[in-house]
Amino acid sequence: MQTNDLIFYQIYPKSFCDSNGDGIGDIRGIISKIEYLQNLGVNAVWLSPCFKSPFVDNGYDISDYRDIDASVGTLADLEEMIDGFHKAGIKIILDLVANHTSTAHPWFLHSRASKDDPYREYYIWRKTPPNDWQSLFGGSAWEYDERTGEYYLHSFAKEQADLNWDNPKVRREMQDIVRFWVEKGVDGFRCDVLDMISKDLISQYNGSGPRLHEYIRELFAPFYGKIFTVGECWSSDKQNAALFCGRERRELTTVFSFHHLCIDADKFAQKKPPLQEVCRRIADWQCVMQELDAPAAVFLGNHDQPRAVSRFGDDTNYRYESATMLGGLTLLHRGIPFLFQGEEWGVANSTHTSILQFEDVESRNYYEENRTKLSETELLKRLNANARDQARRMLPWTEQLNKSWCSPYTRQNEINFAKESRAKKSVYAFYRDLIALRKAEPCLTKGTYRLKELTNGYYAFERSYQGERILVACCFEKSVNAPKTDGFKPILSNYEKIGKKLYPYQLIVYRKT
Ligand code: GLC
Ligand code: CA
Repeated sequence: MQTNDLIFYQIYPKSFCDSNGDGIGDIRGIISKIEYLQNLGVNAVWLSPCFKSPFVDNGYDISDYRDIDASVGTLADLEEMIDGFHKAGIKIILDLVANHTSTAHPWFLHSRASKDDPYREYYIWRKTPPNDWQSLFGGSAWEYDERTGEYYLHSFAKEQADLNWDNPKVRREMQDIVRFWVEKGVDGFRCDVLDMISKDLISQYNGSGPRLHEYIRELFAPFYGKIFTVGECWSSDKQNAALFCGRERRELTTVFSFHHLCIDADKFAQKKPPLQEVCRRIADWQCVMQELDAPAAVFLGNHDQPRAVSRFGDDTNYRYESATMLGGLTLLHRGIPFLFQGEEWGVANSTHTSILQFEDVESRNYYEENRTKLSETELLKRLNANARDQARRMLPWTEQLNKSWCSPYTRQNEINFAKESRAKKSVYAFYRDLIALRKAEPCLTKGTYRLKELTNGYYAFERSYQGERILVACCFEKSVNAPKTDGFKPILSNYEKIGKKLYPYQLIVYRKT
């Protein structure tokens, strides 16, 4: 599959667009926005899970991989959506949650019923926990089940039981699910926590087990080269990138790596990261993937991250400037950009004053675990800055606050698409320009990447292809002297003025032929 020219847009179905006013985003809502996405210029969509689910982890706890949850639509709606995207020239990938199922999945209901049920070995059961692994959402990763007096492994919520990939039947089931959706016409998958499917229970760490690469290869063998695959691999780094993405490996198209988003180890205590460090990590990863001749997945946000403009930019004094500069970082690098819904009009974090306004299981657990250790003010500050809820509020399309399954977005009046689309200068219009530029310049889709300069004031990188060169300069928080740009002419900037200085969060794209 040709990947050079892909520009992805991630849709979080429950919060994207509600077509029937019940407060839950749905598939018909997505269908109604196909034209919007076409106008924006993206040509691929990643849809977060909308399968049957108790929604303990917002759909990442699946109870039927082959059907759609009634709250968001029907299988027929989804088929119509796939078709609609394809007619609009937009590829569509689904989320493949392969590491675990909901405990409401029939496999698990069988599995927990008795020790000699044929489904027992679909999950990981032990008489006593063989390690002290922690759930990523807090607490032990082992849950005692009275029915059979054993513990099962859950890397995430206790309602998400980890599948036993060492059982060949599980691997076959997952491949059948992939086939089912490929036959329905989807173009590929974003693979949830894929590097966790193989485990070594006596190791200190959960995931990256000894048979990981064998399982990935086996899973996608019948489809390799025909579909697009991006693995969510928190363990991916310089050393192992080749194992996932080396072409001869026949494993994945690319991986999401997270170094640039994990500068502080403690997720909730994170402060605003220095942009120099963020850009250094992006630049490093660009070089790693270029070396492998594989596309890098370039992104600053998704449904698990706070809003990029609030985290990396200044959503109060420079919302337009910083959102557009960050747009440049996402859309002008080498590889495949992934935009997260709302990023294209600078949707920022909102501010909440009670834990009851946070619905995410991770946020709730964090609050419970820390309520005796930290003050209420500190806890809310941390949640407002870093909770996943920030990405998951209903997308503010219009000025009015609509009915919403989750606590409503608090900046709706100020930040909404209706207002953006009327404004002369808007984040949205600049995103469209960036996307159009990327599509028009082979240098941006096919060109090589080179780090030009990285200081504590700005980041500059160059792309080049067949004699054409594009230079991108991104200023951080403060005005600094501009880099040397001999022979380069500016072709796009988020400021009208282009001078000897770069202004706060200024982005300038230059060309030389
Ligand atoms: C991934 C998803 C996240 C989910 C977790 C468990 O990290 O992106 O939203 O909670 O896996 O499925
Ligand atoms: Ca709805």
